[in-house]
Amino acid sequence: MPATATPDVLEKLVSLCKRRGFIFQSSEIYGGTGSVWDYGPLGVELKKNLKDRWWHAMVRARDDIEGLDAAILMHPRVWEASGHVATFTDPLVDCKNCKKRFRADDPKIKGTPGTPDAQCPVCGMKGTLSEPRMFNLMFKTYMGPVEDSASIVYLRPETAQGIYVNFLNVQQSTRQKVPFGIAQIGKAFRNEITPGNFIFRTREFEQMEMQFFVEPGTDDEHFAYWKEQRMRWHHAIGLSPDRLRYKAHEQLAHYARAAFDIEFDFGGTLGFQEIEGIHNRTDFDLGRHQEYSGKKLEYFDQPRNKRYVPFVIETSVGADRVTLAALVNAYREEEVAGEEEGRTVLGLHPSIAPIKAAVFALTKKEGQPEMAHRIANELRPQFPVDYDETGSIGKRYRRQDEVGTPFCITVDSDSTRDGTVTVRDRDTLKQDRIAADALSGYLRERLQG
Ligand code: GAP
Repeated sequence: MPATATPDVLEKLVSLCKRRGFIFQSSEIYGGTGSVWDYGPLGVELKKNLKDRWWHAMVRARDDIEGLDAAILMHPRVWEASGHVATFTDPLVDCKNCKKRFRADDPKIKGTPGTPDAQCPVCGMKGTLSEPRMFNLMFKTYMGPVEDSASIVYLRPETAQGIYVNFLNVQQSTRQKVPFGIAQIGKAFRNEITPGNFIFRTREFEQMEMQFFVEPGTDDEHFAYWKEQRMRWHHAIGLSPDRLRYKAHEQLAHYARAAFDIEFDFGGTLGFQEIEGIHNRTDFDLGRHQEYSGKKLEYFDQPRNKRYVPFVIETSVGADRVTLAALVNAYREEEVAGEEEGRTVLGLHPSIAPIKAAVFALTKKEGQPEMAHRIANELRPQFPVDYDETGSIGKRYRRQDEVGTPFCITVDSDSTRDGTVTVRDRDTLKQDRIAADALSGYLRERLQG
């Protein structure tokens, strides 16, 4: 078990996420769907902020990466060429007694599956586990009204292939020169045998993938560059550097020449786990698509009059997994000096916090609610803002702390006289008194990524 000394906050987070509208179980009123989750009002903002930061860093802030949004359903030959039909499999064993299914390498299984001494981890029977057989993780469906083998299509298990098949479309339409990259964010689907740990491993998830096309022979230097860049991004979104590390792959995937994971310490028994993969995929993918489609996928380097199939350096991060990492990283319970009750805080980086500021009126008198409403309405077109007038001011602060709101603005009796308000910082608890009409600039400065 990869347990670490970091506390396990997953259970508390699952409950907070439901209570406060971050994440709900899919189809909950029907008993839920296995390992599929829905993002509620605050969760969708948090995940969107993370995707925006990725898109900004990878596409908008650079002139050598182009964006793409390819379809989920692709030609079935794509998955033959990519190797997924043949090799995107996990070994599966069945218990003949209780009918449960496991990955053959499940550490809970005692003994070797298929032999009389192997014991089912659920019903405890011996000798009931089948020999391992390979199970393909791709979801299959049919395109069109006829359900036969000729109409089988797959839900994509990674977004990367949509990029490879569009390599020349993007290169020629943008006139990019190698080295350059193509980035996309989109859903991927895997029929995982053992999903779990909340949104860590699910059957429907989102990936943020970038494929950087380089000249063969220069791949090592680009690989080193992207390995470093991607770690910096995780620091920039606020993940603690001491909870992040690199892990070299011991076993390389069928397409890879070198591969590193960026791992995050989720705490408890989950410990350090992969959140992103950085892979040197060589010319495997473009080469295979060339072979299977019969269409050339070469790059023509005009000044050097040279044609070649580029190598690919891939960076692949799960939007849901990084959302979970951000939540785990941010969660803390702490005592507050002079108060009996402690507080639960999501110390999210302000740039990814779902609500940027909450506006309160200290009392319902002296025109305070009217002024607070006015401030909230003025800020709302610029930032997600919450207005709250229920309960004591202490309770209102606690409600915002728990969802990670970095700033709370309070209108009090001085405000209606001199036009100033207090702004309380979620982490330091320090209060600044500032002019209400300076709020927009004050917040903007502090919310930058
Ligand atoms: N194109 C390369 C690729 O897909 P991967 O290591 O299989 O590589 C990349 O996946 C990332 O996608 C992982 O680091 C993880 O963040 C995310 N991911 C993969 N499977 C997932 C699942 N079942 N649930 C949630 N996220 C997943």
